[in-house]
Amino acid sequence: MDLGIKGETALVVGASEGIGYESAKGLLEEGVNVMICSRNAEKLKVAAAELEKTTGRSVRWFAADVTKKEDVAGLKAWIAKEAPVLDILGSAVGGSQRALFEELDDDAWYANYEFNVMGAVRTIRAALEPLKQSKSGGRIVILGAAGPRMPYPHQLVSNVHKAGLIAMVKTLGVEFRPFNIRVNSVSPGRTMTGLWTTRIDKLSKERGEPAEKIIDEFSHEIPMGRFGRPEEIAPMVVFLSSHKTSYVTCQSILVDGGIARGLI
Ligand SMILES: NC(=O)c1ccc[n+]([C@@H]2O[C@H](COP(=O)([O-])OP(=O)(O)OC[C@H]3O[C@@H](n4cnc5c(N)ncnc54)[C@H](OP(=O)(O)O)[C@@H]3O)[C@@H](O)[C@H]2O)c1
Repeated sequence: MDLGIKGETALVVGASEGIGYESAKGLLEEGVNVMICSRNAEKLKVAAAELEKTTGRSVRWFAADVTKKEDVAGLKAWIAKEAPVLDILGSAVGGSQRALFEELDDDAWYANYEFNVMGAVRTIRAALEPLKQSKSGGRIVILGAAGPRMPYPHQLVSNVHKAGLIAMVKTLGVEFRPFNIRVNSVSPGRTMTGLWTTRIDKLSKERGEPAEKIIDEFSHEIPMGRFGRPEEIAPMVVFLSSHKTSYVTCQSILVDGGIARGLI
């Protein structure tokens, strides 16, 4: 299927590893000119080199922490210089903190809000003017989560903040209509990236149980019976970034192995 995005320009933030990295790779494979961003310059340099080696295309990168206003000012200036016309923006920064209500103080709530919500807000702000210039209509794809659709108690902060992101997608899709920009989100379920390997290591040490036992326990609740892989989430990011979804906006699409069991 020709997705119609060859030669377009994309920025993926949170792309040095995990779902963002696979999304950048998927876009490169479709012939898109891809720029990537995340905090750590060393990781980015390695990721860009790997992407260039596997896809044969060049990748530009910029290091910025989207929870820091001064970094985002630098990112905005870099985008304006490198891509004054931007077609696609992917935002893959976010994550959860496993904790119960009584373990979370104000600082923990605010830190997760910065990470999950304000990171995406600042990223969109930095890229908005170049997205408005897209000849074919800009597309924004934000990584949400299945969590708000099947809230677990120990994922409280991210359940709340990712629900906010879904509300933001619904609102911005309308607000950005005059700019011809579509806004959607992809909501993954449990996907085996650094987020989960770190969490599983921690639980394994705390409980004195092998990692495999913990993976089995978490997999049991997933109708697919296993964790997703980042390369199984990325195609939906690429699809929503494409012109094959020209009538899709304001949506949050689950790619979760069936774990969110609600009818809507
Ligand atoms: N994995 C899952 O099971 C799962 C489930 C539901 C939703 N999601 C969502 O999917 C998205 C991607 O998750 P993932 O599992 O692929 O994450 P990941 O493997 O931890 O990768 C996160 C990426 O974001 C970058 N990053 C982190 N903090 C940043 C910041 N403040 N500013 C700029 N870049 C930052 C990281 O690189 P640096 O360290 O270099 O900054 C890395 O490239 C997130 O929004 C997450 O909430 C994931």
